[in-house]
Amino acid sequence: MTVMRNIVILTGAGISAESGIATFRGPGGLWEGHRVEDVCTPEALAADPVLVHRFYDLRRAALRDVRPNPAHEALARLDREWSGALLIVTQNVDDLHERAGARRLLHMHGALNQALCAACAARFDWTADLPPGTPCPTCHAPALRPDIVFFGEISYGMDRIEAALAEADLFVSIGTSGAVYPAAGFVRMAQACGAATLELNLDRSEGSGWFDESRLGPAGQLVPAWVEQMLSA
Ligand code: APR
Repeated sequence: MTVMRNIVILTGAGISAESGIATFRGPGGLWEGHRVEDVCTPEALAADPVLVHRFYDLRRAALRDVRPNPAHEALARLDREWSGALLIVTQNVDDLHERAGARRLLHMHGALNQALCAACAARFDWTADLPPGTPCPTCHAPALRPDIVFFGEISYGMDRIEAALAEADLFVSIGTSGAVYPAAGFVRMAQACGAATLELNLDRSEGSGWFDESRLGPAGQLVPAWVEQMLSA
């Protein structure tokens, strides 16, 4: 039997659903009342910066009213107690993994609590509203935008993610529909490098067929049970 040492975990909107944050592809396919193309593309930002900045201001403000759920807490526990390599890659832009205490964490689609300067690429912690034209504290260009990876932009940390997948003994996908690349391709990359693969999701996802095992149910129940299993093995 393979000894499990190196784990890569991918999380998506489903892990934060029980905290009260809407998933992207819920009923009607709208994200908080908007088509994703209207708020999550460079074209949308250029066409209507007020709408796009306001949209993320509301999402950022909403973080104050939510808290990590047992799934985030279980992954933070795994992060503290797992002695092998571990990387939690999240597609989520909320801060619930870090608020639960996870440290070996990578936000591949950016973070609501950060601003990015479109002129000099500097990043800043940002918890207040961010109106269009806000000057960059470093280069002073009026070019700060939400630090969100829009469709058509390159996900963050791909070198680090690919290196971790290449070494992984186990790849676990939690609460993601498997609809958006490159994240949707991680299961096959991990498998090609010899990792076992496990999906924990409310219902079958687009990628379910690729996994060695799929467990169906709410993350708040499945993730603590899986973490307990890993730590007591
Ligand atoms: N527990 C586990 N899974 C859940 C739960 C829950 N309580 N609630 C919902 N899910 C599952 C849904 O069944 C669905 O498969 O979580 C998944 C959420 O899918 P999406 O809404 O598509 O979110 P995600 O996969 O994270 O989207 C990926 O798309 O719009 C972009 O950049 C955005 O990061 C996002 C990316």
